[in-house]
Amino acid sequence: MSSFMEWVDARFPATKVWQEHMAQYYAPKNFNFWYYFGALSLIVLVVQIATGIFLTMHYKPDSQLAFASVEYIMRDVPWGWFIRYMHSTGASMFFVVVYLHMFRALLYGSFKAPRELVWIIGMIIFVALMAEAFMGYLLPWGNMSYWGAQVIISLFGAIPVIGDGLSEWIRGDFVVSDATLNRFFAFHVILMPLLLALLVYLHIVALHKVGSNNPDGIEIKKNKDADGKPLDGIPFHPYYSVKDIFGLMVFLLIYFGIVFFVPEFGGWFLEKDNFTPADILRTPPHIVPLWYFTPFYSILRAVTWEWLPGGAKLWGVMAMGASIVLLFLLPWLDRARVKSIRYRGWIFKTAVGVFVVAFIFLGYLGTKNPTHVDLFLMENVYWAQSFMILYFLFFLLMPWYTSIDPTKPEPERVNFK
Ligand code: HEM
Repeated sequence: MSSFMEWVDARFPATKVWQEHMAQYYAPKNFNFWYYFGALSLIVLVVQIATGIFLTMHYKPDSQLAFASVEYIMRDVPWGWFIRYMHSTGASMFFVVVYLHMFRALLYGSFKAPRELVWIIGMIIFVALMAEAFMGYLLPWGNMSYWGAQVIISLFGAIPVIGDGLSEWIRGDFVVSDATLNRFFAFHVILMPLLLALLVYLHIVALHKVGSNNPDGIEIKKNKDADGKPLDGIPFHPYYSVKDIFGLMVFLLIYFGIVFFVPEFGGWFLEKDNFTPADILRTPPHIVPLWYFTPFYSILRAVTWEWLPGGAKLWGVMAMGASIVLLFLLPWLDRARVKSIRYRGWIFKTAVGVFVVAFIFLGYLGTKNPTHVDLFLMENVYWAQSFMILYFLFFLLMPWYTSIDPTKPEPERVNFK
């Protein structure tokens, strides 16, 4: 083995890369469970690509055949149901782990200097992932696939002057059609996965350049021993490679629990309306995206003020866009001198609490009919407007409240029991 590795190393930096990024990569020793989700996101990406390859072997990207080919996968292809449920459950679980991964960054200030680029690349991944999920959702050619795509693509029509031409160009037709299905298939199975893999690579390169943050939010590179190794760091391999296996086992229990016992997850992972084929003459009474889009969908629908110049639709689209653009800007909106929530004051803690409540309720309301009363006292749309305002205030007031927040002094060394 060693002479083989010598042969390889003379031609390719295999051992060097392994040492630099695994065996001699020093990660803070105080990682907690929030630090599982990066590795889990990576594993889910691999699972989605692997199951996607097998689905592609049996799926037909043709508006006349697509729906039936998915039913064929479910009923006739050996283990087809298993591959398909792994992929559909995997899509939702991807967003579960990615949202938790992003929330961790908010808790511990991981987006703050020097990790701004890790965050920005992460945000580009998030947008790419949303595009990937949106295009994948059209492929089964169910009625909700069809009408969901119709609604979302028509949003581009709100853009002044070029809007209508742009949405027609995206669809390749005047309505969502076979042409749309074919291009979404091409993007879903090759372009976006390639892009995601590239972005994840850049994300890790950027992270390893600066090193990981940790639950105390202090830089372990500030305290090094005589050999230049961080005193609070431990080699990623074997310590975290083994720890991540534990996280993976827990994740797999939950994931396969859903795949085997509740693959539709009560309509949250596979919608009921998608078990009927796409029908251009039958608009579902209630068009809703899957749960991971609903917080943003809620913001889109919350803007109902027709008196706004250009109309409510344009402003709804802009509000939805702004709700994502603001996330990109977090590293510059947050002015606190400390990173971790452990050493922040009550103002930031309250703000994060309000933000979480607003985000969850926006997500819930996005699944409901805007004119119904599902919470108390008022129609859903007024609740959505209220939570939308809280969502935006969290970001827009951040430069102010993070600079007056009574923070506590950070410790010199990480807390590790
Ligand atoms: C396919 C999706 C993604 C993969 C595979 C991925 C992978 C990883 C991995 C392996 C790490 C190091 C381990 C960890 O800290 O958990 C990491 C760290 C990080 N990721 Fe991601 N990530 C993804 C998406 C995102 C997104 C969407 C964001 C934010 C918008 C993000 C922001 C960060 C940040 C800020 C860190 C550094 C955290 C710290 O050091 O405290 N990532 N990512």
